[in-house]
Amino acid sequence: MISVAIMGHGVVGSGVAEILTTHKKKLFANLGEEIYIKHILDLREFPDSPLADRFTKDFEDIINDLEVRVVVEVMGGLKPAYDYVKRCLKAGKSVVTSNKELVAAHGAELLEIAKEENVNFLFEASVGGGIPIIRPMSQCLVANIVDEIAGILNGTTNFILTKMIEDGMQFEEALTLAQELGFAERNPAADIEGHDACRKICILASLAFGKHVYPESVHTEGITKITLDDVKYAEAFGCVIKLIGKVKRLDDGRIDIIVAPMFVPNKSQLSNIDNEFNGIMVRGDCTGDVVFYGKGAGKLPTASAVVADVVDCCKHLKTRKFLYWADGSGKNIIPTEQSVTAMYVRAKGSDVISNAKNIFGEISKIEKDGTPDSETAFVTIEMPYGEFIEKADALKNSGTEILSTIRIGDL
Ligand code: HSE
Repeated sequence: MISVAIMGHGVVGSGVAEILTTHKKKLFANLGEEIYIKHILDLREFPDSPLADRFTKDFEDIINDLEVRVVVEVMGGLKPAYDYVKRCLKAGKSVVTSNKELVAAHGAELLEIAKEENVNFLFEASVGGGIPIIRPMSQCLVANIVDEIAGILNGTTNFILTKMIEDGMQFEEALTLAQELGFAERNPAADIEGHDACRKICILASLAFGKHVYPESVHTEGITKITLDDVKYAEAFGCVIKLIGKVKRLDDGRIDIIVAPMFVPNKSQLSNIDNEFNGIMVRGDCTGDVVFYGKGAGKLPTASAVVADVVDCCKHLKTRKFLYWADGSGKNIIPTEQSVTAMYVRAKGSDVISNAKNIFGEISKIEKDGTPDSETAFVTIEMPYGEFIEKADALKNSGTEILSTIRIGDL
């Protein structure tokens, strides 16, 4: 029997306890030993839980229990998760977490501690919920040099955009629904402002390129400015709008990394990924494109990935799985102004095109049914983002109000 502790009994934590209980026989058959939930840490009371006798409010009960070999951290946030995880690793306990904020902020340090203590620090659930992505990237695709990763990494925003695109639902209404369904973060600003997707692409980039990429180094935009008009112009241009996290290896070895809403062409594999589903494309130099698809949020999908890591830790109590990246300085990331992209522009006024042509050069006007006379939408050719900003400023300075700008995804 291997004793484990679970820190946090929220959406994911209760799912982990549920799977470890309901799938006990299945897991025993795989591991050859029983996984016993010895402690559950939560400040709230759960008197009706079948595991009510295991609850504690005191972290010391876990850290001081020598029988506990694996600790699951599903509290979320950095405080006190960072401190608790560090102490668990230093006490020789393996740690499994779904906490993308923690891994994105402190992954390199925690992986280093795990290495020093000869224990495991696993975080499959931190990216893509129930989709296997960390293990495939660190094991199955290890023979590849990764050229690019692009993904829909946030279930809440994908759910909101899908409802706007398919049902014409307003942003706020769709967000409320996502919160009710348990997809959204405690503070949904992390979802809609793009920070959650940013943490996830940072984790994938760190894993792919071997150096920690910190969220502060990544240009991040959310979906709060996307309107139903933009959604309709995208449709007229043969695209859907998705929040994309993307990292690309450049010829000089630096990386171009971004999180932003993008026009995704209908022919792209990412265009059909809807609702709370996530999709991640990894382009390896040997494999070409490999696409991972599944539920990126929700109780049981995320808990499934956590439990898989628990089983893996239990199988490797005396050995380390090789999952590691070094600390990073951010110097390998290009400034977003240098990132090359085509742009969609929606501007006020019906006589914008000739002026826009003078400023941007070649542009494609988007015509959609019912376009109001009072506005014009067009798409530029590819150019460094910094050059686009200068040209957009020139358009503004010539008296044209720009209503929105969105990147055209090369996906
Ligand atoms: N809030 C996150 C999402 C949960 O919507 O994708 C899973 O990380």
